[in-house]
Amino acid sequence: MRFSSNLPLLKTLSGQETWPPPVWLMRQAGRYLPEFREWRSKADFLTRCLTPEIAAELTLQPIDRYDMDGAILFSDILILPWALGRDLKFPEGVGPVMPPVREEKDLLECEKALKSGEAFKKMAPVREALKILSQKLAGKTTTLLGFAGSPFTVSCYMVEGSGSKTFLELRKMMINHPDRYQKLMEILTEGTIELLRGQIDAGAQAVMLFDSWSGILPSDEFRKWVIEPTKKIRKALKDSHPETKVIGFPRLAGVMVPEYAVETGVDAVSLDVSADLKTILPLIPENIVIQGNLDPALLFCGGEKMRETAKEICQILKNRPHIFNLGHGVPQFTPVENVKDLVETIRALPKNS
Ligand code: CP3
Repeated sequence: MRFSSNLPLLKTLSGQETWPPPVWLMRQAGRYLPEFREWRSKADFLTRCLTPEIAAELTLQPIDRYDMDGAILFSDILILPWALGRDLKFPEGVGPVMPPVREEKDLLECEKALKSGEAFKKMAPVREALKILSQKLAGKTTTLLGFAGSPFTVSCYMVEGSGSKTFLELRKMMINHPDRYQKLMEILTEGTIELLRGQIDAGAQAVMLFDSWSGILPSDEFRKWVIEPTKKIRKALKDSHPETKVIGFPRLAGVMVPEYAVETGVDAVSLDVSADLKTILPLIPENIVIQGNLDPALLFCGGEKMRETAKEICQILKNRPHIFNLGHGVPQFTPVENVKDLVETIRALPKNS
């Protein structure tokens, strides 16, 4: 384990204010980088995720270019369903697809993969990538971040069999077959705990839970299927790895964000673009670290408006621990120089501003 006190992102996650704030960006390793696009012609997406040397190299591309404070493992939230036996594919231009989980037999297959240890075994390349990264980052001030999808968001893709605008198949299972959905969520919660424990043991210094679709749920279901499983995962990690910090990202959860932040026990909450800082910050206890929340569209467009908004976010958050990030991922066609400009703007924030 690397010495943590000189890693700005870890310092902030432990509640210390650092100025300027540490910076990294969701989806910082991605198609907007020419060196990333080169790999796309050489290996398909799953191969890139599951070949430790490639995943490590892709993780480091944005670090080599911009010296971000956080290096997020190159992988995907859908590696867990893949490890649970779902035949996951990423056809060009379509997004992820897999045979949907709808019937008892589908659940039984997933449960068997989990309980037999098969799923954990299949995720070994992810852990190998982290081990390589841990060595490569030795002596640097970059924090190595692991991640998983939240059980709810992963269940969205599993039940639907793909992405969706409405996730009505998922809602149908929740409403018409609550026992089945409960069972799926139990499998995913246990699988996520196993995945994240493995990542931490392999060198991840903090982990993030992506709940990209949490905003589609009514409040009571949000409590049951977002807050409760996240709380369970947080507690399990605290029991096994008491020092490791957890960042939660309840995207588009709106007025439920403060309850999420308090009830789940996450150390940091990542805010999406819709979160009005002046309204929401007083509702989130001071000991919870804030991550976020520049509009990715501003990064995409770049220029003065991007710089001014980024500075404003840092100003509003300067009296509490803050990790600078976007409100969602880096858009695909973002000019690389905008990312450089953004990181330089944050690093150049005047000391006493
Ligand atoms: O740089 C990083 O942030 C690390 C890697 C990372 C990826 N996916 C790589 C990826 C992370 C953290 C994710 C998380 C992820 N994956 C989420 C949660 C965050 C979010 O964006 O809401 C979700 C919902 C997924 C599922 C997923 N994976 C989708 C819907 C797609 C296709 C659409 C898209 O955005 O490209 C993917 C593919 C994917 N995951 C790519 C990358 C770099 C593109 C693959 C390619 O090169 O073609």
